[in-house]
Amino acid sequence: MTLAPRKLFVTTALPYANGAFHIGHIMEYIQADVWVRFQRMRGHKVHFVCADDAHGAPIMIAADKAGKTPQEFVAEIAAGRRAYLDGFAIAFDHWHSTDSPENVELSQSIYRALRAAGLIDVREIEQFYDPVKGMFLPDRYIKGECPVCAAKDQYGDSCEACGAVYSATELRNPFSALSGATPELRRSEHYFFRLSDPRCAAYLQDWTRQNDRRGEARLQPEVLAKAQEWLGGPDGSKLADWDISRDAPYFGIEIPDAPGKYFYVWLDAPIGYLAALKAYCNKAGLDFDTLITDPELEQFHFIGKDIIYFHVLFWPAMLHFAGRKTPERVNVHGFINVSGEKMSKSRGTGISPLRYLELGLDPDWLRYYLAAKLNSKVEDVDFNPEDFIARINSDLVGKLVNIASRCSNFLTRRFDGKLCTPDAAALASFAGSWSGADALAELYERRDTGKVVREVMQYADAVNQYVDARKPWEIAKDPSREAELQMVCSTALTAFRDLALLLAPIIPALAERALAQFGAAERAWEAIGTSLPVGHQVAPYQHLTTRVEGKIIDALFEAPAGAKESPSSPKKPAAAAAEAAVKATISIDDFAALDLRVALVSSAEAVAESRKLIRLTLDVGALGARTVFSGIRSAYEPEQLVGRHVILVANLAPRTMKFGVSEGMVLSAGSDDPAQGNGIFLLEPAPGAKPGMKVS
Ligand code: MSP
Ligand code: ZN
Repeated sequence: MTLAPRKLFVTTALPYANGAFHIGHIMEYIQADVWVRFQRMRGHKVHFVCADDAHGAPIMIAADKAGKTPQEFVAEIAAGRRAYLDGFAIAFDHWHSTDSPENVELSQSIYRALRAAGLIDVREIEQFYDPVKGMFLPDRYIKGECPVCAAKDQYGDSCEACGAVYSATELRNPFSALSGATPELRRSEHYFFRLSDPRCAAYLQDWTRQNDRRGEARLQPEVLAKAQEWLGGPDGSKLADWDISRDAPYFGIEIPDAPGKYFYVWLDAPIGYLAALKAYCNKAGLDFDTLITDPELEQFHFIGKDIIYFHVLFWPAMLHFAGRKTPERVNVHGFINVSGEKMSKSRGTGISPLRYLELGLDPDWLRYYLAAKLNSKVEDVDFNPEDFIARINSDLVGKLVNIASRCSNFLTRRFDGKLCTPDAAALASFAGSWSGADALAELYERRDTGKVVREVMQYADAVNQYVDARKPWEIAKDPSREAELQMVCSTALTAFRDLALLLAPIIPALAERALAQFGAAERAWEAIGTSLPVGHQVAPYQHLTTRVEGKIIDALFEAPAGAKESPSSPKKPAAAAAEAAVKATISIDDFAALDLRVALVSSAEAVAESRKLIRLTLDVGALGARTVFSGIRSAYEPEQLVGRHVILVANLAPRTMKFGVSEGMVLSAGSDDPAQGNGIFLLEPAPGAKPGMKVS
């Protein structure tokens, strides 16, 4: 299906230029990048830009602490961005800064237009002043209780608990985060965007409910619900005017005709989207004004759930009343948690994206894992190390790469790498295993990459089943079945090329290696489902990706704050952090699924062929006798164990080993941290417990 090419302007949220990227930023970039790559494969024209959000008091204060000018401070942060973006293959066309001439010009011109529309008010307000520090306190440096939901320890601009946006003076029990002092109210003249104007409310009521030009709701249902809550009734009476000015000293953009007044950072930050596009246009020789006013240009913002208010209320209102086009959609994602815990620098349960790259982990693994977890909802995503390892090893290695690694070399060794006509019946049966390229395109379009991955893996399963059933390695032993061998391999590899194309937006480097080896020139979405000509030559198979090892994932975890410096802690930071991380919460029902019993060791003997194992014969009361092979030889002599009580997992699936069947597992304590001595400590009930008793 050929489509009329679309013109897309895509952004991710502009990260504050006060620190390195964390995994949450990278997740957002990956989600947007997958979408952008998909659109490009479809032949659409995409302008994909981002920038550092440079302005604001926090950056000014941080720069001051570091003994630098804000410009120097921000430039250093900006210089660090490349490694992450290249490392994770984020295909931005341009990376800009809100502290740029383009942004000054655009911000001032949008402000002038809003003023001309009668939407700017000047009012004297009372503002918090830190008597100890001798300055007006930026919102972020005032803390207190949320005026809406009463959550404690919230910042002065918005509530992290309920998402409400308010002004700092509305906080209950405020205090200065710089000095701890109770702030004083002082008077100052401030500029306001009159969001309470009935025109704004009416416009936003309409805009938030509209469909985009593809006929889909402009906002996700959860996002629309939030917007409606903030907008209040149909008259929009709940919207308050928005304070858009700050007093000098401030690192920001000067407000025209208002000496000593600067735009509040959130005024010029989204305008930074336009500034980045403009700078990109200058670089690429495009005319910005023509592009940005083109009715065909669709504007998309990818953002996290914490900044919805700014993007679905302030931003469209600012644009519309300044006479500009508004976004087509705002795509909101949830937050990433690590092993069920919220990311936090102080607790150190985050994963460092740079460390991920430095350890040599394949960026496509993270892209694949996150894509598999993301969908079109505003749901949080959990990075779970075990889950990550299992996904990569089972999907990418066990299913995808497995096809090529099992079939390519028969072709290159026996048939000069040449494909013959594939087995049409087999290809047709693969087609029945997934819903087809058009349906997957729709899933990509809606950012439902979790479903894309599931579908593609169903397809891969069907191909693997075909290879398993036809056994090319067996056919290869029989010289009379040469033609069949070539056909089976040609069929599997034709499908493999489809799989690589289908996943190319998600795992671009892996897909590129696969397609290059395959000699496939075509990278367009339309190529999916087509066959290469008979006689097309493939190159010998070279490894495409490896299995993930658990150890390397442990090394990924950041040290908890202070762990590195603490002389009293001999632990390796990574192992210590991995240990400090708690697994995802389970329900009482999950726990109740375990059948734990007291057992008496009636005999124990070392397993001759193994250095680790001891064969235990257990008396489990009413459950009778059980044999368990336990890897505790390094810590216990068999003789020590006889007559001891242990705790048995009685309903673990039996496992066949070289030496016999193990019918359960005995529990022990231990640590992954070498500093703790790698000991194994068997669990034992208090005296009086009898074999067969339940443990709960
Ligand atoms: N500077 C503002 C955005 C201005 S946009 C005109 C900002 N910066 S930020 O660095 O704090 O966040 C940038 C993006 O990262 C936001 O979309 C935010 O939601 C996202 N994330 C921050 N922490 C996150 C997670 N833990 N998980 C996923 N995304 C998260 O806000
Ligand atoms: Zn709140």
